[in-house]
Amino acid sequence: MNQKSLIRAKTKEALEAMSDQDYIDDSQQIAKQLVSSAFWQASHTVAITISRHREVDTYQIIDQAWKEKKRVAVPRTDLKEKSMQFYELSSFTQLEKRYSDLMEPLPEVCTPVAEDQLDLIIVPGLAFDGSGSRLGFGGGFYDRLLARVEKKSVALAFSCQLYPGLPTEAHDQPVDHVITVDGFIR
Ligand SMILES: Nc1ncnc2c1ncn2[C@@H]1O[C@H](COP(=O)(O)OP(=O)(O)OP(=O)(O)O)[C@@H](O)[C@H]1O
Ligand SMILES: [Mg+2]
Repeated sequence: MNQKSLIRAKTKEALEAMSDQDYIDDSQQIAKQLVSSAFWQASHTVAITISRHREVDTYQIIDQAWKEKKRVAVPRTDLKEKSMQFYELSSFTQLEKRYSDLMEPLPEVCTPVAEDQLDLIIVPGLAFDGSGSRLGFGGGFYDRLLARVEKKSVALAFSCQLYPGLPTEAHDQPVDHVITVDGFIR
């Protein structure tokens, strides 16, 4: 296993070991920091994924975005093309479960959102460090997106997802900000 795979495996284990109560409390704390940030408040269209397993809960963040009349843009991945198309989500009923339990928008009922319309990109991932380096789930989807668009990006991380430094390759794109239970580490 290479270094990235080892860290991914170790982080997944640590996430599984989190208690339900910590998962709920820390998700809430992280969401609170995000929605009180200046860049959240300045954003109209927010790109975000639907959390699964032990990812920081994004359902409450999406609910808050709708309350604030923001536009929620959720990606649908094309594994063959290694690309993503964003769709405007206005209800959790507009989702379908795809590979690896990932919930993605139904193209039949959602309107596409062009990448240049995104104001803020909430970037999923497994491991992060204080310089914004990240390890995602290994598809390179967000490395490609962030290399293409110059948008504000932010990652949400539980404590067990934080490392003092991470191995990176030339194609890896850092995020602008990382929010933890204790606030911004970048
Ligand atoms: N801009 C790019 N153009 C072409 N291939 C890329 C690009 N960015 C990443 N890749 C490819 O994607 C694959 C996965 O990259 P990596 O291991 O960094 O994934 P990741 O950062 O965990 O994924 P993600 O960005 O989806 O969270 C690598 O083989 C890499 O070469
Ligand atoms: Mg990468």
